[in-house]
Amino acid sequence: MNNYIIDDKENILNTYKRFNVVLKEGKGATFTDVNGKSYIDFSSGIGTNSFGACDSEWVEAVCNQARTLQHTSNLYYSIPQIELAKLLTSKTGMKKVFYSNSGAESNECAIKAARKYSYDKYGLGRSEIITLEGSFHGRTIATLSATGQDVFHQYFHPFVPDFKYAKPNDIENLNSLVNEKTCAIMIETVQGEGGVNALDPEYIKYIDKICKDNDLVFIVDEVQTGNGRCGYMYSYMEYGVNPNIVTTAKGLAGGLPFGAILFDEKLENTISYGEHGTTFGGNPICASAALSVVKRLNDDLFNHVHEARKIIDEKLLQCKNVIKTTGKGLMVGIEINPNLKAAEVVAKCIENGLIPLTAKNRVRLLPPLNISFEELNKGLDILIKVLED
Ligand SMILES: Cc1ncc(COP(=O)(O)O)c(C=O)c1O
Repeated sequence: MNNYIIDDKENILNTYKRFNVVLKEGKGATFTDVNGKSYIDFSSGIGTNSFGACDSEWVEAVCNQARTLQHTSNLYYSIPQIELAKLLTSKTGMKKVFYSNSGAESNECAIKAARKYSYDKYGLGRSEIITLEGSFHGRTIATLSATGQDVFHQYFHPFVPDFKYAKPNDIENLNSLVNEKTCAIMIETVQGEGGVNALDPEYIKYIDKICKDNDLVFIVDEVQTGNGRCGYMYSYMEYGVNPNIVTTAKGLAGGLPFGAILFDEKLENTISYGEHGTTFGGNPICASAALSVVKRLNDDLFNHVHEARKIIDEKLLQCKNVIKTTGKGLMVGIEINPNLKAAEVVAKCIENGLIPLTAKNRVRLLPPLNISFEELNKGLDILIKVLED
């Protein structure tokens, strides 16, 4: 074990099962560790480095802003925040933006806004939020409560009340949970941490309708699926639905901690002066980084994502230990032969110079959105060799 790893274990809270790799630098979809070994990156820092490592446009945006002004607080107007908000609203048709620092914080804000909308209009007692079994919405107490997996509902009691969990893709079950106390429904169109499971389009459209019919707040958690990851600016756009709130983070600022919550006309005035805030949310360096990403979320990139996905499916579906691929665009789940363990496959890939991820017992791939076909094929060859050995 090298000294970095010893020092890490001695000094950093032991909450992650880390691989024995100390990554030092990267370019595009190629990383290098402290020993000079290189890896093809199929993880993008769990879906954050949208344009790969140290993408030159992103580096320039970050460095220019760091040289100009790194932070102002939210007491003053900030040019990168304003430019980014204009871009986000014009590309989505949403009306207002609030900035956060992470996915969990984005969802916290959405939960607050949904409850406030209902309180303002209907008074107390209409505060239930329906999320889905198998969902993941974050690690704060409220977002853990929103997460529909029992494994996350331990130790930290009491959790936040009034969350109910519906069975994905089961309209009857959803109908049985909606009542006069319901204020919102929150979904991921593709459950990422839950195993890379895409919801049925009909189910997503039904949620849109039931929310409209009952004046519920429709929240789409695009923390992982958003910002081009599924081959659309935001994944809900594939289905022609109109969420009232869209939350995002991860890939938004290309690898810096940043999130955004987008509100439509129904919710744009719900949270007002003094009712929500953050010191770092909207930080100018992060906002400039996000601008450099969002500017490039266009059809050329989305076509590249779809093309890359075709290559992934074509190659993997020929591999004898691959049962099927799941997810959308470059959010890929791989169901493997049940005799294999995804965590062991990933460990072997890392030994062989490829960095994939897991999601439950699936291998998960979240490569940079602009990964070159050369890097993509090189990485897939390593993965297939590991799966077939
Ligand atoms: C769908 C979804 N929502 C929320 C989160 C939490 O994001 P963060 O870790 O930035 O708080 C995640 C993280 O994996 C996620 O995938």
